[in-house]
Amino acid sequence: MFRYSRARTRAFYWRMGALVMFTLSLAHLGWMHQDKIDLDNALLGWQAQRMRLSSWSTSGGEEQVALESKKVHWCSPTEYLDGEWLLREEEVTLENIRATYKYTELGLLKCRAADEPRGVEPGPDDPAAWARILETAQYIWVPKSGCKQHSWSKWNFAKYCLRSKGGCSLVGDSLADQIYTAIWASMITKGDGLFKLHGSPERIFNITVNANHPGAQMLAEAAGVTVERFNRPIFNFWREHHLVNREDLDAAFVGFEGYEKWVGGPSQAESGWIWDRSSWHDLWNSLLAHAVEFVPRSRDGLVPAEENSVISFSSGPHWTPVELWPQKSAGKVTSEQIFHGYTAAADRVIQNVTAVAQEHKVLAWWRGSTAAHPQCPQYTEPENNRTTHHSTRNPEAKEFNWDYFPIYDHYVEDKLVQEPNAAMQFMDLWPLTVTRPDAHLKVSTDCMHYCSPGVPNEMLEFMWHWMVLEAENDDYDEFP
Ligand SMILES: *[C@@H]1O[C@H](CO)[C@@H](O)[C@H](O)[C@H]1NC(C)=O
Ligand SMILES: *[C@@H]1O[C@H](CO)[C@@H](O)[C@H](O)[C@H]1NC(C)=O
Ligand SMILES: *[C@@H]1O[C@H](CO)[C@@H](O)[C@H](O)[C@H]1NC(C)=O
Repeated sequence: MFRYSRARTRAFYWRMGALVMFTLSLAHLGWMHQDKIDLDNALLGWQAQRMRLSSWSTSGGEEQVALESKKVHWCSPTEYLDGEWLLREEEVTLENIRATYKYTELGLLKCRAADEPRGVEPGPDDPAAWARILETAQYIWVPKSGCKQHSWSKWNFAKYCLRSKGGCSLVGDSLADQIYTAIWASMITKGDGLFKLHGSPERIFNITVNANHPGAQMLAEAAGVTVERFNRPIFNFWREHHLVNREDLDAAFVGFEGYEKWVGGPSQAESGWIWDRSSWHDLWNSLLAHAVEFVPRSRDGLVPAEENSVISFSSGPHWTPVELWPQKSAGKVTSEQIFHGYTAAADRVIQNVTAVAQEHKVLAWWRGSTAAHPQCPQYTEPENNRTTHHSTRNPEAKEFNWDYFPIYDHYVEDKLVQEPNAAMQFMDLWPLTVTRPDAHLKVSTDCMHYCSPGVPNEMLEFMWHWMVLEAENDDYDEFP
């Protein structure tokens, strides 16, 4: 409770003074050399760990045994998720929020005021919005068992993804976009940075290494790849809402009363959300067609092993009648019919990924839903004991298709258990998100997306942790 009142006092303070602080902080952020600070902190942590290990190993035989038993216990994914949101040791302020979340000066700080009226678009200098940005950013996810987490850094992420043919990819909707945002927000800097972001109206986004940057050669040497690898992305975000094309959707819904094949041209013409193309499969295959050329890495002259090409899929919020069915029959479609389409799409993705994984080294996830909380304005802090998204005040309250998220998740999770040959694993994000009913982006209208930075960064940390658990190389916890 003490902690809570600390947050309340802070909120009051920010509502009073945020306008002034915002102006000051903008000036401040301009000259704080974000990357340097990140790197120095990371380096300190690494050296401390190394010194501890080497002082152990200089002693005799008994201590060697002790060293073995002191070996770091990295969290399994299950242990990782059995955790809780705790206040960060250091209070998050506008001065340290970027360093805390590894954000560059370009990363967006995004969260809306709790009492913001519907339809109002406040300016970036709204003090109440700044108060919520800070309130929701105070917490960190901590596994209860005390097991250790691998910590995300752009350098090690780049190294890993460069060592894979396809790089690292996310496919999904605006919720996948939130993880993508956490990635670019810590990689892309103003001006001629080491990493470059590319985007297009087709919503194909990728991050590449800027081969002309002075750090590029060092990155290639650390990764043990030739600079030729820089011709292809480190990271891809393919924004797709249903993960399949129109043909697959037509096949999924064929025979249902009221459903008609869409034959009238581009499907965006009917609804802003259906796209009759799905490009991940073609794009991914074209990347996987290139082998990675390895050279001895600078650290020890060893040639690194090829890493998995990583890909994560998610879908859910866009499985709604108005988006998928002809407008004239949308009112009659049942949730069961929509669910049927969802299962067919998920089956198709699993099947296609499994086929790709027969020829390439792949780490693929079906990423579970993030919880959306009906009536979220009632929450002002994390609730670590929460397992359901239902409203405390009125458990019957329904919004959109949110009750279906756990049902969708269970379908895929069960299927992946039942089909051990499927080259995909289920990544559960429910425990990380259902416990944060307080952290939604715009509580007056949007109890689904999350404030940034905060929850999406912890999703990225979890994904990275899992990548490193499955990695071929062991140099992802060190820093240049
Ligand atoms: C990277 O993104 C840009 C912009 O969308 C696109 O033109 C380019 O083809 C992408 N590159 C790859 C290899 O996917
Ligand atoms: C799955 O693979 C088939 C065969 O290559 C292709 O025609 C189809 O478009 C793919 N579907 C998806 C969603 O990638
Ligand atoms: C869960 O936590 C909330 C506060 O975070 C508390 O009010 C509630 O009583 C707890 N419920 C249970 C069953 O422990």
